[in-house]
Amino acid sequence: MQKVWGHDKIAYGGDYNPEQWPEDTWEEDMRLLALAHVDILTINVFSWAALQPSEEEYRFEKLDKIVELAKKHHMKVCFATSTGAHPAWMAKKYPEILRTDFNGRKRKFGGRHNSCPNSLVYRKYSVRLAEKLAQRYQRYGNIIAWHISNEYGGECYCENCEKAFRVWLKDRYQTLEELNRAWNTSFWGHTFYDWDEIVLPNQQSEHIDEDHTMAQTISIDYRRFNSDSILECFRLEYDAVKKYTPDIPVTTNLMGAYKPLDYHKWGKYMDFVSWDNYPSNEDSISAIAFNHDLMRGVGGGKPFVLMEQTPSQQNWQPFNALKRPGVMRLWSYQAVAHGSDAVMFFQMKRSIGSCEKYHGAVIDHAGHEHTRVFREVAQLGAELDKLGGEILGSVGTAKAALMFDWENWWAVEYSAGPSVSLKYHDEVMKYYAALHSQNIPVDLVGEEDDLSGYKLVVAPVFYMTKPGVDVRIREFVKNGGTFVTTFFSGYVDENDLVVIGGYPGKLRDILGIWVEETDALPDTKKNSFVYDGKTYIAELLCDIMHLEGAKALAEYQEDFYANTPVVTCNSFGKGQAYYVGTRSEEAFYTKLMGEICMRQQILPAAEAPSGVEAVERVRNKEHYLFLLNHQEEPEEFALTKAGTDLLTDTTYQKNDSIKLSPKGVAILKWVEE
Ligand code: GLA
Ligand code: ZN
Repeated sequence: MQKVWGHDKIAYGGDYNPEQWPEDTWEEDMRLLALAHVDILTINVFSWAALQPSEEEYRFEKLDKIVELAKKHHMKVCFATSTGAHPAWMAKKYPEILRTDFNGRKRKFGGRHNSCPNSLVYRKYSVRLAEKLAQRYQRYGNIIAWHISNEYGGECYCENCEKAFRVWLKDRYQTLEELNRAWNTSFWGHTFYDWDEIVLPNQQSEHIDEDHTMAQTISIDYRRFNSDSILECFRLEYDAVKKYTPDIPVTTNLMGAYKPLDYHKWGKYMDFVSWDNYPSNEDSISAIAFNHDLMRGVGGGKPFVLMEQTPSQQNWQPFNALKRPGVMRLWSYQAVAHGSDAVMFFQMKRSIGSCEKYHGAVIDHAGHEHTRVFREVAQLGAELDKLGGEILGSVGTAKAALMFDWENWWAVEYSAGPSVSLKYHDEVMKYYAALHSQNIPVDLVGEEDDLSGYKLVVAPVFYMTKPGVDVRIREFVKNGGTFVTTFFSGYVDENDLVVIGGYPGKLRDILGIWVEETDALPDTKKNSFVYDGKTYIAELLCDIMHLEGAKALAEYQEDFYANTPVVTCNSFGKGQAYYVGTRSEEAFYTKLMGEICMRQQILPAAEAPSGVEAVERVRNKEHYLFLLNHQEEPEEFALTKAGTDLLTDTTYQKNDSIKLSPKGVAILKWVEE
């Protein structure tokens, strides 16, 4: 059992901001939250200015009262450190804490997530506050997690960051010679003779715009550096709270596939991963599931915490549609199905001013419990109470791994050529959706993760092949694993320098092919190929390749490379390595992934009609099968396993039919003999 934190049920609650309200309203809040079965409050998320009105003065009286309020009402506390927005006085007194943007403009005080991560003043005072909080509340008893800052992100291009960048580079490259080699500075006369000649890559230097750079390696290194700089802020506060409360786990709320921060690296320093899920109503089931699986992967496969979701609508989308009846519940169980041990909201109570006053909340401006949203929240809360300690600490069962790597993401999308339409996340999603829509469990892994427990590893657009990864993939396939990769893979090393000798570089022997050329098709132009008797489109990029031991499974139908291979398979050791040399369509991916999984005995969590998501979590011999009907219509189908629905206490035998209402959920438990 892999427990996230000290709670004996799926935690239910979320961000609560009583400091925005008169104290005489707090008891009524507590009455309402108890009615909603809330048992955890995330407090103190943005209170720095209140806690520290000046450089030497700290005031904790109000926070003491909030903490006591939570205790009196038997709430667990997820305690934030408030360092996601600095006080105005600090910005005035120490302008160095303000960020400088991509265009080189120094920001003034305002907004949030606004501190320069390399400001020593920011680091000093954020760490001091975190430490004071841990010291003051260490014996409080109900704190089950520290929540450092909030949704870390963004970037800074100030002079402090520039100096810190040089220090970071010295650490990475040791010598200027090595840096000049790695950065290929002989191109366009960029040779550096002194570390101080190096400047940050932005609109004032190497960039054409945010997405286009003339010096890819410099820009990729800046991304690494920026992610590390912000991570360092997290780690400093982590150490500060651990001094007083070594046993309270520490997290910060991540944001799914958030490009600027290398979450695989972050995950290594977090006691558990938590994240904020804000899909739009238009997102596909797979798109939402992908983020959950990614966050679970970042946390090394352990259960995670759904730290925030809205009970109904957001405030920051162009059209802030309501979550339809049943959707909040369905998406909450989807999070749990994919590994969350909590269902938490932003926010408990709608504020009356500023930009989040129309963001969904458990307690609406109406101020009472007679709202649709409140009723839905309370119903789910009652169900989670009923589930008790079930599910907690259980883990996934995937035999298929899909690679998603941040450094690769940066490298692919900074690349000048072959196509502006190539987006890494989109390509990975196509393979994810093919597996997920067939209810095949998938773990999302990074390039550094252990692959030995899997039967299948899929690495779409695996462009930056970092040192040693090819060795592990070679071992994996030799030992009987199946590997799938695509166009634009194996091209470069960790410095974005091309591996010479022919594409796909170090993956060439594993795949048994040589890619000689790659054609980039404008969005309006398509080629095609026939696979297993059916014609599928080929678009975006078309690799023109030679077989070096692999078998062609499909060939192009058009253009001067008609009749040359586009999809190949190579037998390598005891395993197989597939190469898909173009982008195709959903039907093709579903077919190919389905076939591979069938051959490798990689089974779906359950047989279910399309539109019904089936996901399994396992704890010792206990299996929890989640059946989630994402459709507007009811669904009825035969079960391939016996089990008891924990939500209704109905027991089903194998082959019994189960009915799911529109947006309905069942959680079938069965225990291995
Ligand atoms: C984020 C933040 C919250 C709040 C919500 C609104 O997730 O962490 O403070 O701003 O967005 O959607
Ligand atoms: Zn800075």
